Amino acid sequence: MRVPIYYGDYLRLDRLLSSQEPESAKIGVNAHDEMFFIIVHQTYELWFKQILHELDRVEPDFDSIPVTDDAMARIVHGLNRIYEILKLVVAQLDVLETMTPFDFLDFRDLLMPASGFQSLQFRLIETRLGLAPETRIPFDDKKVDEHLSQSDRATLRTVGARPSLFDLLNRWLARTPFLDWGGETFREAYRTAVKNHLARDAELVRTDLATTPDRRDRELENIERAIASFSEIFSETDEGGSWRLLPQSVQAALFINLYRDKPAVQPAFRLLTALMDIDETLTLWRYRHALMVERMIGLKIGTGGSSGGAYLWMTAERHRIFSDLFRLSTFLIPRSAVPELPPQIQQQMSLVYAS
Ligand code: HEM
Repeated sequence: MRVPIYYGDYLRLDRLLSSQEPESAKIGVNAHDEMFFIIVHQTYELWFKQILHELDRVEPDFDSIPVTDDAMARIVHGLNRIYEILKLVVAQLDVLETMTPFDFLDFRDLLMPASGFQSLQFRLIETRLGLAPETRIPFDDKKVDEHLSQSDRATLRTVGARPSLFDLLNRWLARTPFLDWGGETFREAYRTAVKNHLARDAELVRTDLATTPDRRDRELENIERAIASFSEIFSETDEGGSWRLLPQSVQAALFINLYRDKPAVQPAFRLLTALMDIDETLTLWRYRHALMVERMIGLKIGTGGSSGGAYLWMTAERHRIFSDLFRLSTFLIPRSAVPELPPQIQQQMSLVYAS
């Protein structure tokens, strides 16, 4: 017979609640907030664990060919849960900020050289989402993983060798159906529509008498840049130039954004939205953490030895993963200018119920 489960045993509360060992207490220093500091970090790590657990299901689902409707529903559900958790961990910084910089000083020196910088789970989240190693900002002239223990470094390298969520997205987008319209492709139809639209924009700028010459030149330069960047994604080769996604993947992502109201495209649109939500919220966490750090330690260096705030601001700006999806908005045109879908594609993309 199964022994009835007891709440505290099920949750291993004996272990969980005896895992807070303030360094200050060990040397008889009174630092009331160190317990709080430990608990805040531990709750972060628990949420990180849950995010990784969600990715454990998302990755194989997304890696399957084809990605079935059921798998897609699970992927979007998992990504939305990750997004909700990330919102929570951003909000959790409010709780941390009830500790004042002065209170932090009671125990800060005892933490050296440990730092959130050594959070393996955080690095795994970044890596599994797809933060590219070459875009990582070096820390203390060393690669980020050189600050981890041997075994954490080995784990990170093993995981880094697997396809990331970004890689899976790239491959999946490149396989998107509906882009071949028989005669004219979506690629050609949309390229013409956007070129016409940007040419109209340029004409408006040129003929706007209220604009100063300086401002006009700047706006025209911006349009030129947009046209160049747009040409990259419509190139015949696999090289996307300044894009990280493959050209055919960018085209597919554009298609999904434009025709998102079609039932067949809805799940794909929700997936792209969830990835942008995650990217935005992770970036928000980086900014909020950098602000909190500045408030907590001012211009001091971090316990991990970095320039502190300055390093963290840079990561907020540059450690983006799905920024290509944000960039797509440059190439969205008003509904009225979007090419009509050919009837046979319209039909393929609709839900049909036969009695
Ligand atoms: C008083 C509170 C905190 C301070 C003063 C602080 C300070 C810092 C500093 C200065 C860094 C840069 C590395 C270094 O030189 O140490 C850093 C990195 C980091 N911290 Fe915190 N931190 C605090 C709380 C937290 C919390 C609650 C978390 C949650 C897990 C966290 C997670 C991280 C992570 C993941 C990094 C690496 C960021 C990256 O490399 O992009 N920190 N922290």
